[in-house]
Amino acid sequence: MDFQINEEQKMIQQAARDFAQIELFPGVIERDEQQAFPEEQVKKMGELGFLGMMVDPKYGGRGLDTLRYVLMMEELSKVDASSSVIVSVNNSLVCWGLETFGTEAQKEKYLRPLASGAKIGAFCLSEPEAGSDATSQKTTAIDKGDHYILNGTKNWITNGNSASVYLVIAQTHPEKGYKGINALIVEKGMPGFEIGPKENKLGIRGSDTHSLIFNDVKIPKENRIGEDGFGFKFAMKTLTGGRIGIAAQALGIAAGAYEMAKEYAQQRKAFGTEIANHQAIRFKLVDMHTQIEAARLLVYKAAKDKDEGKNYVASSAMAKLFASQVAMDTTIEAVQIFGGNGFVKEYHVERLMRDAKITQIYEGTSEIQKMVISREILRK
Ligand code: CAA
Repeated sequence: MDFQINEEQKMIQQAARDFAQIELFPGVIERDEQQAFPEEQVKKMGELGFLGMMVDPKYGGRGLDTLRYVLMMEELSKVDASSSVIVSVNNSLVCWGLETFGTEAQKEKYLRPLASGAKIGAFCLSEPEAGSDATSQKTTAIDKGDHYILNGTKNWITNGNSASVYLVIAQTHPEKGYKGINALIVEKGMPGFEIGPKENKLGIRGSDTHSLIFNDVKIPKENRIGEDGFGFKFAMKTLTGGRIGIAAQALGIAAGAYEMAKEYAQQRKAFGTEIANHQAIRFKLVDMHTQIEAARLLVYKAAKDKDEGKNYVASSAMAKLFASQVAMDTTIEAVQIFGGNGFVKEYHVERLMRDAKITQIYEGTSEIQKMVISREILRK
């Protein structure tokens, strides 16, 4: 068992850390306040290969494994979780889904520009009445021979307006239940496809979250991913990997808040000494550090399981479940250590606390992760 990352992995980590400090940190508070999409930063991340980390170089990606991807995700998330969710959705939901299950023509047409960041992708599963209960799809894709007619509404879609390629899950054969669901590639600008209003959110405010409306959108059949009826399995398999990315995001949020709190505690004085010398604060730091270390091991383990071709359904869900709780607990304690300053935007930790909450909700709530894990551990 080797718990250390090697020199080459450290270089990737360092590159992401430098990028986060130099490019993401400036303006992160303003983007949060104004709900401004990090357009310039995303463009640069595309140039650096951050948007297609795991995609085969023959489609313009970096061809790296999941472990290296989570190292990058953790570093970006320490500073700017809005940017890291854009990266995570593009990498682990859209690119991975297309590369693993798409046709050669779909990969050439859609994966290539997504891997380079020339285009951004969105993953569209959630609906007003199908969040956790994802099989209850009301969006329909009616089979018309050589095309589908798509109708319905999707909710809370990350990259909702910034994307130009959308993987949309829809029901084709309601009588077959989840076995009648399809995944379709939809392009921005297709007639009948409308972007709904932007959500005003608690956290990750720099990422753009929208509802999407489809009114008789004609989708050619060659845009279906996999066999007829594969759509729900496609969504589940893709989300299983996506959850590792969100777990790494949660880990990064926690680690970012902890690092800031530790530094602050070694500078700020009260009762004649740095507050880090008070046991009340030291013990908080110890709990944060220990929890983060445990979360990191779970995240790396899930990434390794995926890279080694093992079943990673439970390990990805456990990593997300645990790391998202650590993100919440750690950021709340970081605000507490900062005291009054923790409540003020310029000290960053209040933003990390707001950003942490979504990691317990998206790509499957913590309650859904428990359902997933329980089914895996009790499987006969
Ligand atoms: N891998 C492969 N197949 C899977 C699977 C997995 N991880 N999980 C389920 N399936 C398969 C099942 O095996 C079953 O197929 P078979 O009958 O052929 O075996 C089929 O899918 C249906 O599964 P279930 O019977 O388990 O369905 P269910 O309704 O009881 O529960 C669920 C499914 C796990 C609760 C699922 O609905 C779920 O994951 N819900 C949460 C949805 C979610 O994560 N949404 C996130 C939105 S995307 C997002 O947030 C992105 C973003 O913008 C950041």
